[in-house]
Amino acid sequence: MSETTQATAEAAANIAFIKYWGARDLEQAVPQNPSISMTLRRCSTRCAVELLPGEPGDDEILLAVGDGPPAPAPAAFAVRVQAHLDRLRGIAGRRGRFRVATRNSFPAAAGLASSASGFAALTLAVVECLDLHPDTAELSVLARRSGSGSAARSVLGGYVEWPAGEGEEKCYAKELLPAAAWDLRDVIAVVEREAKKVSSLEGHRRAATSPYYGTRQAELPRRLEAVRRAIRERDLSALGPVIEEEAIDLHLIAMSSRPPILYWKPATLAVLEAVRDLREEGIEAYSTMDAGANVHVITLPEREETVAARLAELEGVGEVIRDGVGPGPRVEAGLSL
Ligand code: DP6
Repeated sequence: MSETTQATAEAAANIAFIKYWGARDLEQAVPQNPSISMTLRRCSTRCAVELLPGEPGDDEILLAVGDGPPAPAPAAFAVRVQAHLDRLRGIAGRRGRFRVATRNSFPAAAGLASSASGFAALTLAVVECLDLHPDTAELSVLARRSGSGSAARSVLGGYVEWPAGEGEEKCYAKELLPAAAWDLRDVIAVVEREAKKVSSLEGHRRAATSPYYGTRQAELPRRLEAVRRAIRERDLSALGPVIEEEAIDLHLIAMSSRPPILYWKPATLAVLEAVRDLREEGIEAYSTMDAGANVHVITLPEREETVAARLAELEGVGEVIRDGVGPGPRVEAGLSL
């Protein structure tokens, strides 16, 4: 009789310095352009997976919110998880039923990349149960095929580049610099806890309809090189202006897509202004946003406290999460959510 296998993986979200926005192959999440991100430490997903090899029947997909008990996952999320379980089971050529339970440490679907950490953790735990043993590049490809492209970056820690790739199979993320080499902090101003109204998937689909899409593509080689160099040289003053410019461009493209996508809330703008004011006072901090209203403020450890206190005072900022660069995922035997 075949044995039951269990594994739990924890993977963190990542914040993109150069964004994945627009795909060559959306189904397989093959991006139009390379992206660069920093893997976080605190905003993470734990995913506990059990494979019951002898059991026929449906997979069980649960989601725990906050400290609550796991409950059946909402349909939209369950469908994506189900498709990924089928994909990985097919690759391994195995049968059996999965029991999956996921818990996020942060507000899901609010531009805090819960899909990236979620699908990275799911991929890691499932391949462990399936005895697949992929190397990091293969793991990144498998996570990417979940459809959440940014999950390709969350299987690594520290500073990560995900090239656009020559072909689908070669399209995986690589480490640029380990977390221990540069301690950057990410102070996140949460201005919205609700799920965003337009998914990133839909954003990628509409991106090329913006008249500014080509302009950003033309800017990207210079930006990518500047970000790579700033990371290599651990130079926040060089990194900051480029990531601000890039985040504004992502939203410019979203806002000018047809039909337009507006992710910002009034408090988003208040945070952007506060960050500019902090800089005028000599406190080095730079803002960036993924596809959502929340603002990530990148700063140095000695400035983190001041930045967090200032953001917490702003009207419309519900919560301030103090995060920073993290070492990457880990996998444990057994189930522990
Ligand atoms: C704006 O298709 O990876 O965050 O599945 O929702 O995580 P999710 O999105 P995905 O697109 C990410 C878009 C982005 C930029 C980025 O992370 O590179």
